[in-house]
Amino acid sequence: MSQKQKARILIVEDDESMALCLGGNLEQLGYEVLGTVTTGEDAVLQVKECLPDLVLMDIVLSGKMDGIETTQQIHLFSEVPVVYITGRTDIAQWQRAKITEPFGYILKPFELRELDVVIAAAFYKYRKEQDFKELQRQLLQSEKLAAIGQLTAGVAHEINNPVGYISNNMELLRQYVSKYTSVFRIVEYLKRTTEQGDIQKAKLIVHEIARFEKEIDFNYIINDTDKLLEHTQRGIDKIQKIVVGLRTFAHRDNEIMEPTDIEGVLESVMTIVYNEIKYKARIKKEFNKIPLIKCNPQEIGQVFINLLINASQAISTNGQITIRTYSDNNHVKVAISDTGSGIAPEDMKKIFTPFFTTKEKGKGTGLGLSISYDIIKRHNGDILVESELNKGTTFTVLLPF
Ligand SMILES: Nc1ncnc2c1ncn2[C@@H]1O[C@H](COP(=O)(O)OP(=O)(O)OP(=O)(O)O)[C@@H](O)[C@H]1O
Ligand SMILES: [Mg+2]
Repeated sequence: MSQKQKARILIVEDDESMALCLGGNLEQLGYEVLGTVTTGEDAVLQVKECLPDLVLMDIVLSGKMDGIETTQQIHLFSEVPVVYITGRTDIAQWQRAKITEPFGYILKPFELRELDVVIAAAFYKYRKEQDFKELQRQLLQSEKLAAIGQLTAGVAHEINNPVGYISNNMELLRQYVSKYTSVFRIVEYLKRTTEQGDIQKAKLIVHEIARFEKEIDFNYIINDTDKLLEHTQRGIDKIQKIVVGLRTFAHRDNEIMEPTDIEGVLESVMTIVYNEIKYKARIKKEFNKIPLIKCNPQEIGQVFINLLINASQAISTNGQITIRTYSDNNHVKVAISDTGSGIAPEDMKKIFTPFFTTKEKGKGTGLGLSISYDIIKRHNGDILVESELNKGTTFTVLLPF
């Protein structure tokens, strides 16, 4: 069976003779006519129930909704391609129809050949769009995986360092504890001997204690125990900080909007990307105690990660990244400035476009900024950019109260 014969088409047409004619033509062209409805309301129901492959939609319908409004309703829940059929060609109607991104137009009266070409072209365009969307989905997925891989490697490295010295410290402390235990045992022995009144033996033991004290340098051990415990505690605090940072990004409900301390999100983000940045740039914080705002902390954190990684990638060495927070009457603002390569004026227009990248193959997918822009727009905020070639760039994120 050919592709064409499989395709199922719903006709939305309130003129009975036109609907009959269309049905006959479509069958002649090898399509399956799923049904004919005369109102927008019925069209919405039929699309929901029968999942057609294409809808042929008359623009002027007799019910409450015209074909354009019906298409808008359908697009709220379905991506089915819609081809308009119309007898009128007034500009305002075309403008309205265009917004619904139809897959084709057929002007009445039409010929069979014309119907054939427009429908075939609509299916072709639809398939191409679906392929492109699938590619985009795959790329997004692989970018996410790559980013997760990179971050995980960084976090593992950050945790590995304190784990390394905590484990060395533990080994030393274990040796010290065994020495403390020996001392306690001797003292216990001395106590018992003195209680038994065996002064001669007690003297011998005291002598032994003095020798042992000399041998193990007890003062050093006492001092070093304090230092080792303090050092170990610092390592544990560091691991704890990284874990708190990670928890911010652990998978929670994506749609949750909650009062959020943006500076806290920035602190968590910094622990996560620190490993990426530390060899290239110092991070300077200028936090001004901005108020809480309602947002999705995970998503906003993702935006800051993208901006900080971009800033770091723009710096070759010895740079500085400044993170400044401030607010006005309407917005909290986070400005991330770098002393990196800057953006060429001709690239400024393109940087938020999906897949635009100036990075070498395999390093950038060009999705970081477009995803970030999308997240900030969904929060009714904005991202502003200022850049000067070879001087640096500032991205400012604005989020409304
Ligand atoms: N801080 C910056 N300094 C200089 N150029 C930048 C900066 N941030 C973004 N750009 C430019 O914008 C382009 C697009 O950035 P975007 O984050 O969308 O993609 P990418 O970093 O190239 O790849 P990805 O983020 O998907 O790994 C970058 O390739 C770079 O040319
Ligand atoms: Mg990027």
